[in-house]
Amino acid sequence: MKTLEIDKEYINKVNNLIAGKNKKYIVYTMGCTLNENDSEKISGMATEMGYTQTENINEADLIIFNTCCIRENAEEKLFGKLGEVKKLKQERGTIIALCGCMMQEEHIVEKIKQSYRYVDIVFGTHTIQKFPEDLYDLLSKENKVIDILDIDGEVYEGLPIKRESKNKALVTIMYGCNNFCTYCIVPYVRGRERNRRPEDILREITSLAEEGYKEVVLLGQNVNSYKGNGYNGINNFADLLRAVNKINGIEIISFISPHPKDFTDDVIMAIKDCNKISRILHLPLQSGSSEVLKRMNRKYTKEQYLNLANKIKREIPDVVLSTDIIVGFPGEAETDFEDTLDVVKQVGFEQVFMFIYSKRVGTPAEKMENQIPENIKHERFDRLKELVENQMQENNKKYIGTVQNILIEGKSKTNENMLTGRTNTNKVVVLEGKEELIGKIAKVKIVSEHMWYLKGEIA
Ligand code: 5AD
Ligand code: SF4
Repeated sequence: MKTLEIDKEYINKVNNLIAGKNKKYIVYTMGCTLNENDSEKISGMATEMGYTQTENINEADLIIFNTCCIRENAEEKLFGKLGEVKKLKQERGTIIALCGCMMQEEHIVEKIKQSYRYVDIVFGTHTIQKFPEDLYDLLSKENKVIDILDIDGEVYEGLPIKRESKNKALVTIMYGCNNFCTYCIVPYVRGRERNRRPEDILREITSLAEEGYKEVVLLGQNVNSYKGNGYNGINNFADLLRAVNKINGIEIISFISPHPKDFTDDVIMAIKDCNKISRILHLPLQSGSSEVLKRMNRKYTKEQYLNLANKIKREIPDVVLSTDIIVGFPGEAETDFEDTLDVVKQVGFEQVFMFIYSKRVGTPAEKMENQIPENIKHERFDRLKELVENQMQENNKKYIGTVQNILIEGKSKTNENMLTGRTNTNKVVVLEGKEELIGKIAKVKIVSEHMWYLKGEIA
């Protein structure tokens, strides 16, 4: 895979066109952290082109929707928003750009061409670096631009970036996915796996540390299948973790999302040895039934998953696990669902992200027989949710009385007078404290639990 440096030519050209005109942009991000990281790059490009960010959509000259298509509700959200901005387009001539995963779906782009003609620019996941060129073409020639590549894009380095957080930095290490889980649209919209070079990743993280960032989140659709090029001995994900752990100034490292099939012993040992790595690991289960897992093409059984979870807990006793679960996959029988409940009971997850199966156009599961009726899907979802919430409450009690190292992220959103941060197992902690603590790591004693957060005091 070739790695290319971004060419700033079109960024400068747009800058010349709009200089001094006080143009503003707003970006809406749907979907996962990878999309959030892409939006930070879109914001970086917009800023270098001379736009300033606004929170007020009514004064924006450029609106960018970075879309997701993992489940149906993400689509509904976009079309709802597009309806809302039509009036703005008519009144102010606001430029409307769409990008991200949904734009890689043919039927969606067709729908936009037919029914949302006021959209100006469409670019996909493989053409994000061409946003300035597309915008320049629109501004200089008044042509609508549809710029989508079906083949996998190159890995681009050097895109400008405007980060959302001052403490926690998102760092994509690989793009795409080769797994083809049968329910999942991602391999079709993000393409095959492409890795960034270790030297580029390490350079980025080193300069983040110099800027004062304490925490990095390594991102990829399948992070633990990362392949290096041998630079500094980095050939795989375990090597990369060890190298990032050595970077001075970085104190917390986390990563999403790994696949259980690639959770090899060397990755477990690297986490065990590297004290900066977060003590919550995400291990997406999807289903507890070996039969369903087979039809999902997950490449592990219920027993293999349980063995892996046990091995991780045995090797790294202070680690807790989080997971993703889909209920109502085609053909899921009551006994299959009970297997899922059984795994949840046995593993005792710290956090469970629960999803109702959503049919995705073009995936193998879309065509499977025995699609589960909506009422059964919802009834199972509610049963799973009840179990998870009961477990969470029980589990939260273990924190009370402990002293935790908390990176203080900022003021609490719900109470101006309180600060908030997270434990190294990603639990939200709310506490009283001085503003100077923001961005620092503090020792905090946990005094009570409140389901979705813990309350603490400076120890
Ligand atoms: N329906 C429901 N949930 C899905 N996920 C992925 N595809 C689908 C789908 N078609 C969930 C998986 C994945 C998470 C990011 O989204 O649990 O791990
Ligand atoms: Fe949504 Fe998947 Fe794209 Fe992330 S990679 S934005 S979850 S479709």
